[in-house]
Amino acid sequence: MAHPMDSIETRDSKTIKLDQWVLTEKPDISWSDIADLERPKRAIEESIIFPVRRPDLFPLGWPRGILFFGPPGCGKTLLAAAIASEIKGMFFCADAASLMSKWLGESERNVSQLFTKAREVSEKGQPAIVFIDEIDSLMGVRGEEVGGEVRVRNQFLKEMDGILDKNKKLHVYLIGATNKPWVLDEPFIRRFQKRIYVPLPDVKARMDMFQIYSQNLKFQNNVDFAELARRTEGYSGGDIRDLFQSTQIKVVRDFFQRGAANDLNAIPDPITMEDFETIIVGRRPSVSQNIIKRYFDWDESFKAS
Ligand SMILES: Nc1ncnc2c1ncn2[C@@H]1O[C@H](COP(=O)(O)OP(=O)(O)OP(=O)(O)O)[C@@H](O)[C@H]1O
Ligand SMILES: [Mg+2]
Repeated sequence: MAHPMDSIETRDSKTIKLDQWVLTEKPDISWSDIADLERPKRAIEESIIFPVRRPDLFPLGWPRGILFFGPPGCGKTLLAAAIASEIKGMFFCADAASLMSKWLGESERNVSQLFTKAREVSEKGQPAIVFIDEIDSLMGVRGEEVGGEVRVRNQFLKEMDGILDKNKKLHVYLIGATNKPWVLDEPFIRRFQKRIYVPLPDVKARMDMFQIYSQNLKFQNNVDFAELARRTEGYSGGDIRDLFQSTQIKVVRDFFQRGAANDLNAIPDPITMEDFETIIVGRRPSVSQNIIKRYFDWDESFKAS
């Protein structure tokens, strides 16, 4: 028989299964697949990885809440996935929108059951990491039920206080990610003791990404990665992945157009610098300078790293 905690009934008889939130298959992402982001990685080590391994070395306790914020496509979700595969623990993964059931009363229940389950796991001796992606949508819901939104938020704050309680040595961690930190209100922000900016990649980080995305590709000698790194100022990690993908697809398209693909032994030409240039010209960075300024200002006001 299913344990009562294994699923949540909603009024339209749709069942939100807690299993959906539990990542049973660990994502296949490790630290080394993530270019740069040394600061966020260090924060994760200090707040989660070290305390899980040696809680005895933290007589003053350790932070249980980490907020990642920053522009879209820069590795927030990727970092969370890497934690899941770095730690032998239970990883609960929910995006805020899916927690916010249409029936707001049930949203509170969703939140409380999620944390209850996480505590149960940790009481049995396994670390539990609750990852809430797009956490700003907990704040941004404008339902018809006035006050419902507030109740969910309060439930969340209560649960956070529960896991932040220093006397308990439970290993329950909360990681939140958002690209709209300015939507969050202060009581909420305060409970994330670590607030970590996940920025756009700089030149060096972009070079590292080129390495990561080049692994299965062949290039002509004229491909100048240092020059490409200069030409991609302002690109997010996602933009760079798309650049490589589009360039690779361009080469395959050329290959088909020449009719060369009919010969099953033939392979496409290596990627050239010109191929990259063709794609770069048609591709602006997805994140604007104005937005970057806004993250920077928010970081100045609320930083806690
Ligand atoms: N530091 C990085 N190293 C390698 N790849 C990266 C990095 N940052 C981003 N990427 C690439 O960009 C994609 C999008 O990253 P991710 O989903 O983590 O962004 P995000 O910060 O969560 O964005 P959003 O705010 O839109 O949710 C990743 O799947 C990966 O391919
Ligand atoms: Mg994300």
